[in-house]
Amino acid sequence: MSLELSSISVAFGGFKALDDISISLKKGEVVGLIGPNGAGKTTCVNVITGFQDPSSGTVILDGQNINAKAPHNIRRRGLARTFQAGRLFTGLDVLDNLAVTGVGLSHSRRASEEEAMRLLTWMGAAHLAELPAAGLPYTDERRVGIARALMFSPDFLLLDEPAAGMSEAEANDLASIIRRIADELQCGVLLIEHNVGLVLSLSNHVYVLDAGKTIEEGDKDAILGSQAVREAYLGAEHTEGT
Ligand SMILES: Nc1ncnc2c1ncn2[C@@H]1O[C@H](COP(=O)(O)OP(=O)(O)OP(=O)(O)O)[C@@H](O)[C@H]1O
Ligand SMILES: [Mg+2]
Repeated sequence: MSLELSSISVAFGGFKALDDISISLKKGEVVGLIGPNGAGKTTCVNVITGFQDPSSGTVILDGQNINAKAPHNIRRRGLARTFQAGRLFTGLDVLDNLAVTGVGLSHSRRASEEEAMRLLTWMGAAHLAELPAAGLPYTDERRVGIARALMFSPDFLLLDEPAAGMSEAEANDLASIIRRIADELQCGVLLIEHNVGLVLSLSNHVYVLDAGKTIEEGDKDAILGSQAVREAYLGAEHTEGT
């Protein structure tokens, strides 16, 4: 089972946020998507999840074109995302934040709560279950956001900057959760991060975007050895060797 973006372009007026982007992700795999601010990473997620119509190109999930599908329909097909900002229901506790997703999928309240507790426990976050979502520390909010996305039992999970604002130790914890999501749940993970070290250490394959274009792709060594990537991150003037 795979998720394939094929020659995706997105134009906002005359501005091309994405220009002919192709990305491939399989179940059980972590694929990294990196690039400077404004490169088009979040726009890719929005296209995949049906929040943004592409100007051209196709998104194929398990052999089916999902271009014209609504976001809720795409979620039901096994694709879940987290948002750059938490977006938890602040009036509910953590367990209910997960359980409402189950109820929304037509599971009973009881079954939804059981599944929510099972997932929190699996993530090592059972102690958060009864806390109000509103007061959560930032990194716990992130973990709950991921747990909530997993309530969809997704085949593919799209993580947009999950480590933003985390310390090194917290990012390492997150890395082991992402590894387990791929290995134990056999979920395909698209990982967007400014923490390039985290992405390179976790990903089977990495795509580097800059100004809407793919400027490099490959494994860790290919990315680390790339002149184009160095220039995108540092600016060409730092790499011309004067
Ligand atoms: N709805 C929109 N209308 C107009 N321009 C947009 C819209 N959404 C995104 N853009 C522009 O498209 C470009 C890509 O934005 P995007 O959010 O995908 O970048 P990003 O790689 O996720 O950046 P960051 O690392 O800052 O999150 C940016 O220049 C952004 O301003
Ligand atoms: Mg973004």
